[in-house]
Amino acid sequence: MKDHLVIFDTTLRDGEQSPGASMTKEEKIRVARQLEKMRVDVIEAGFAAASPGDFEAIRAIAETIKESTVCSLARASEKDIERAGESIQHAARKRIHTFIATSPIHMEKKLRMSPGQVLEQAVKAIGWARQYVDDVEFSAEDAGRSDIDFLCRIFEAVIKAGATTLNVPDTVGYNFPTQYADTLRQLLERVPNADKVIWSVHCHNDLGLAVANSLSAVLAGARQVECTINGLGERAGNASLEEVVMAVRTRADIFPVETRIDTTQIVPASKLVSQITGYPVQPNKAIVGANAFAHESGIHQDGVLKHRETYEIMRAEDVGWSQNKLVLGKHSGRNAFKSRLAELGVVLESEDALNSAFARFKELADKKHEIFDEDLHALISDEAVTPDQEYYKLNYSRVCSETGELPHARVTLTVGGQERAAESDGSGPVDATFKAIEKVVESGSELLLYSVNAITTGTDAQGEVTVRLSRRGRVVNGQGADTDIVIASAKAYLNALNKLHSSQGKVNPQGGV
Ligand code: KIV
Ligand code: ZN
Repeated sequence: MKDHLVIFDTTLRDGEQSPGASMTKEEKIRVARQLEKMRVDVIEAGFAAASPGDFEAIRAIAETIKESTVCSLARASEKDIERAGESIQHAARKRIHTFIATSPIHMEKKLRMSPGQVLEQAVKAIGWARQYVDDVEFSAEDAGRSDIDFLCRIFEAVIKAGATTLNVPDTVGYNFPTQYADTLRQLLERVPNADKVIWSVHCHNDLGLAVANSLSAVLAGARQVECTINGLGERAGNASLEEVVMAVRTRADIFPVETRIDTTQIVPASKLVSQITGYPVQPNKAIVGANAFAHESGIHQDGVLKHRETYEIMRAEDVGWSQNKLVLGKHSGRNAFKSRLAELGVVLESEDALNSAFARFKELADKKHEIFDEDLHALISDEAVTPDQEYYKLNYSRVCSETGELPHARVTLTVGGQERAAESDGSGPVDATFKAIEKVVESGSELLLYSVNAITTGTDAQGEVTVRLSRRGRVVNGQGADTDIVIASAKAYLNALNKLHSSQGKVNPQGGV
């Protein structure tokens, strides 16, 4: 019998602390649903005290998610813990995760507290958290640079106070696999009642060692790994969930643990998070990169054709890569469309939502005769990112692009119910379109990112565009998909503007830890 390795996903909290990766409440719910479908044990939904937006998103996730535990982060203060407790009060399974720094540099320079005061505060924090939940996690922030004797003392005290999971974060990604494993081993040996709690690891990737450190800690006895989809997270990111899960599964001969993750949901989760955050996945990224299962060399191709395992240690389909399966065409009916969506695990909330998605499918099938699973995903995402009440809406766009001439765009938009038009030149057709939109909207926002990704192969593929805009410290991502990339770009730009518009007056939700 192998031990269970708890997979604690922090894409929605630490992952969201990546610059520009902030998500709306609806986007967070979509990610949380996908994490639940993937059978993640714990979803860290956010940091409730950071902003009212964070609080609301955690509350909505707590009300939606039934199978995974929903966790809310809090500093070791009574107010933070109260907000965390309130945010998850309706969750079927709930956890409060409270933390305080334990390294000499953090205690002295950041907290300006003595080790004794830190220990006392940690114990109080566990008591406050236990008033709301039985499942309490304690993190010794910057444990990777903390004194081992002090770690033993503080962990012993928080176990006595009622903490059930103890986390040993390498907050600044400074540790090395053998050293980090040794820290875990010492803690497990020296802390009284260490066997009564789950030991957890949370590694940052500053030296590219987050996954290696997490895995060596598992070999030393850790039974929870904190990780994120695509390794998203503060600075260089966190340990990547897909790499941790597939390492444990592929090297079952080494690891005395198993996860309960449905690995076929990994690639859909990766694509969803990448699309929502605008963080592309590098092609050579392990497991979820476009080339992770591609064989270029003739010798390798020959080997794989003769016997797959000559050059493949995992099967692409086991992590959710599908073969761009041709599923539907312009003659497909509503029922075929509905059942294919069901096979893909997409449930539309109402008949109206299904009818509107089907109408968009028909439009797409007119332009693009072969519709693949990826197209359906994009179509549903496009539908999901469009707010019910779009303040800015694209009615018409025309672009002229000619050799030797400056591209010129004309757009007609509906702005709060009124039709407005503008035109502009630009250095390219997309630039001209964005400038024309800006002439109407005058948003005063700054474009931080523009990226296009072809959803499938072929020149008739849909382009999926992400636009990141910033205004007065608030950063939003907009998405759009279309076979015409200028239209996809205009949709993405307007989607971002709609998000900026709907959040006017709200506090900046990027209040990370
Ligand atoms: O990196 C870190 O130390 C954290 C803690 C809040 C767990 O994110
Ligand atoms: Zn972190």
